[in-house]
Amino acid sequence: MVILQACSLRSLQAPGSNRETSLKAAAEKLGLSIGVAVDATQLSKNSRYARIVREEFSSIVPENASKLDALLPKDSTYSFDQTDAIVAFARENKLSVHGHTLVWHRQIPNWISAKKRSSQEASKLLRNHISTVMSRYAKDIGSWDVLNEAVAARGGLHKSYWLESIGSSYIPNVFRWARNANSTAKLYYNENDIGISSRVGSKNESNSSHNYRRLVNKSEATYRLLKKLLANGVPLDGIGLQMHIRPRYTPSLEQLKLTLKRFASLGLDIRISELDVSLDIPVTEEKLLLQAEIYSEVFEACLSEPRCKSINIWGLSDAHSWVPVVFKNLDKATIFAADLQKKPAYFSILKTLNEWCQKHAADSPRCAN
Ligand code: G3I
Repeated sequence: MVILQACSLRSLQAPGSNRETSLKAAAEKLGLSIGVAVDATQLSKNSRYARIVREEFSSIVPENASKLDALLPKDSTYSFDQTDAIVAFARENKLSVHGHTLVWHRQIPNWISAKKRSSQEASKLLRNHISTVMSRYAKDIGSWDVLNEAVAARGGLHKSYWLESIGSSYIPNVFRWARNANSTAKLYYNENDIGISSRVGSKNESNSSHNYRRLVNKSEATYRLLKKLLANGVPLDGIGLQMHIRPRYTPSLEQLKLTLKRFASLGLDIRISELDVSLDIPVTEEKLLLQAEIYSEVFEACLSEPRCKSINIWGLSDAHSWVPVVFKNLDKATIFAADLQKKPAYFSILKTLNEWCQKHAADSPRCAN
C-alpha cells in the first residue's frame, strides 16, 4: 500500500511562483510528452472536452478508432472516418498522435475471427492491414503500438487468432511489415501488468502474494521476448507499459524505477501508455488523495528514467473511462472528474512536474537547459 503523504488538496493546488499552469507546458519543459486517449465523437461534439485536450496535452491516442474492428468492420471495407477526425483535430491543434493498435488478440472483427485461414492467408491479411493503415497516416501518426498484449499472464504467448493461424513468427513479422510500411515511424510493443520486475524495494501488499509472482513472471517474460526480437534484428523502437493500476496492485516507486531502467537497458524508449488508477467504490476524499499520490509516483518514476519519453492517460475524465464499464466495483480512475473538473491527481501531477528540477537539478538531464 502506497504510504499516503500528509498532503491536503490545498497543498496540491498551491500554484507557487513561476509555475507552469498546464500539464502540457510543465511536461514539455522536462522533455516529456503527456497524452490522453480520446474519442472522436467527444472531440467533435463536446467543446469543453476538446478544450481540455487542446490545452493540457501534447499528444492524443485513438482509444478505439484505430483498432482492427473499427477500421475494417467488413472485408475490404475500411472505415477511416473516426481516425481521420482524430488526426485532423491533432493537426489543427499541433498535437502528435500515437497509433493504437495494429495487432491485438481482441477487437478482431467477426469476418476475420470466424474463418480459419492458412498461415499464408492470415499473414497476407495482416500485412495488407498494417501497410494500408500506416501508409494512410504516414504523415500524421509518428508512433504506433504495432503489437499489443502478446504475452500471457503466466508468461508464454497470449492465445490469439494470429498466433493460432500464423504461429509465433507473427510477432517478429508484424514489426518487419510495419517497418516496410513506414521507414520512420517509432514502432512500439505495448503490454499490461509488467511494472513489477523484481522483489526489490517492494512496499505494497501484492508482493507477498501469488499475484506478485505472476506479475514478476510476466514482466520477465516480456523482457526476454523483446531481448530476443532485438537480438534477431527485428525493428522495434520502444515499449509501452500500460499501467492500469489500483492502490493494492501498484508497483512501488523503487520497483517501477527498476523496471523502467531494465527495459531501457535494451536500448528501447519507454512509454507509460495507458495510465489510470482505479479506486474501489465507494470513492472517498482519502482515496482520491491516495490516487493523487500514486499518479505522482508514476510520473516521478518516468521522469527518473531519461528514456521514458511519454505518459498517456487512458481516458480524459471519469465519465469517459473504460473502468466502470468493465468493473462494477471500480471507478474514478482518471485525473478529471465526470464534470471535467480537475481532481487531486491533476494537481499532484502538475506539482510533481513543476517541482522536479528543484529536487533533481543536479542529477537529471531533464533540467540541463
Ligand atoms: O462501437 C460499439 C458500439 O457500436 C456499440 O453500440 C457498443 C455497445 O455494444 O459497443 C461499442 O464498442 C465498444 C468499444 O469499446 C467502443 O466504445 C466495445 O463494446 C467495448 O468493449 C470497447 O471497450 C474498449 C476495450 O479496450 C475493448 O477491449 C475500451 O473502450 C477501451 O478503453 C479498452 O482499451 C484497452 C486498450 O485498447 C488495450 N489495453 C487495455 C485497455 C482497457 O481494456
